[in-house]
Amino acid sequence: MNYARIIGTGSYLPEKIITNFDLEKMVDTTDEWIRSRTGIEQRHVAAEGQFTVDLAEQAARRALEAAGKTSADIDLIIVATTTADRVFPSTACLLQQRLDIHGCAAFDVQAVCTGFIYALGVADKFFRTGSSKCALIVGAETLSRILDWNDRNTCVLFGDGAGAVVLEQSNEAGILSSHLHADGAYEKLLYTPYGVSRGLSELLDGAGGIAMKGNEVFKVAVNTLGRIVDETLACNNMDKSDIDWLVPHQANIRIINATAKKLKMSLEHVVVTVNKHGNTSSASVPLALDTAVRDGRIKRGEVLMLEAFGGGFTWGSVLLRY
Ligand code: UT7
Repeated sequence: MNYARIIGTGSYLPEKIITNFDLEKMVDTTDEWIRSRTGIEQRHVAAEGQFTVDLAEQAARRALEAAGKTSADIDLIIVATTTADRVFPSTACLLQQRLDIHGCAAFDVQAVCTGFIYALGVADKFFRTGSSKCALIVGAETLSRILDWNDRNTCVLFGDGAGAVVLEQSNEAGILSSHLHADGAYEKLLYTPYGVSRGLSELLDGAGGIAMKGNEVFKVAVNTLGRIVDETLACNNMDKSDIDWLVPHQANIRIINATAKKLKMSLEHVVVTVNKHGNTSSASVPLALDTAVRDGRIKRGEVLMLEAFGGGFTWGSVLLRY
């Protein structure tokens, strides 16, 4: 059996930090409201002239270094992003150029906050069929560029960042299973009013923004993530107690707590970084993973459940032995 095994992780957050107290000066909000409703204390924002590929490159280089690999080893690049630098080439191709990699498959995956889980799931298929031996999988976003910084409903929630993993073919697991889902019927609960085909005038006028019915998204997210946890455990004939770490999408501490409760997991076994960088969409799961790998909490051989939920709606999970 060809398994995809994580052999290195990396992440990057831009230098500039916007705290809740900074936001108090920009919109009608309070640090207390943001912390109590979301768990977020601060978010990072890309500098002028710093783009998604710049963030992706930093995270990718750190993951390659941790894996002990060079660009020459990589035979597949997948970048999950909702905020690509250009309509084309894809951010994956731009990253490929930065890393001086030539010829291997490189493409973007767009599944909003579930993007990294989708990218891992797709990569897993490449490994199982023997099509890839060493892959670079990245989640990178500059969501600050599509926010309406006058809309308190959304601007307090999101941030910029990137995370990456290097996967290597292994006879031992590895990714045990991946579960990818979507239901486009939920479009109106979470979307951008603008787009390439619809026109970008709102975005270019500086009033871009994300249209979101927050509390309705919240309810569907909690229920859906509860279901995917069951689906993932059943597929692997595992029990809740077999999971060593939950590495969830970092959107809201209350959603994370609800999923942990479903798994009967103490919060000591849940990786939480949402306080430090808010919702970084497709970057949030690899950012959390890299944090807990580097600080020594996650150890080789442990079983991790990665999960996410986002616009589309999309949702998914990956169960792996680290
Ligand atoms: O990654 C996937 C994408 N998104 C998500 O996962 C987001 C899911 N949703 C959430 O995280 C939560 O629903 C929010 C954090 C967005 C909102 O929390 P909530 O507890 O669901 O609040 P709410 O939407 O029910 O709003 C409560 C009140 C409203 O005022 P009224 O109508 O009760 O007077 C809002 O206008 O809070 C108000 N409000 C704010 N107040 C201060 C909304 N945003 C703010 C704010 N500061 N920034």
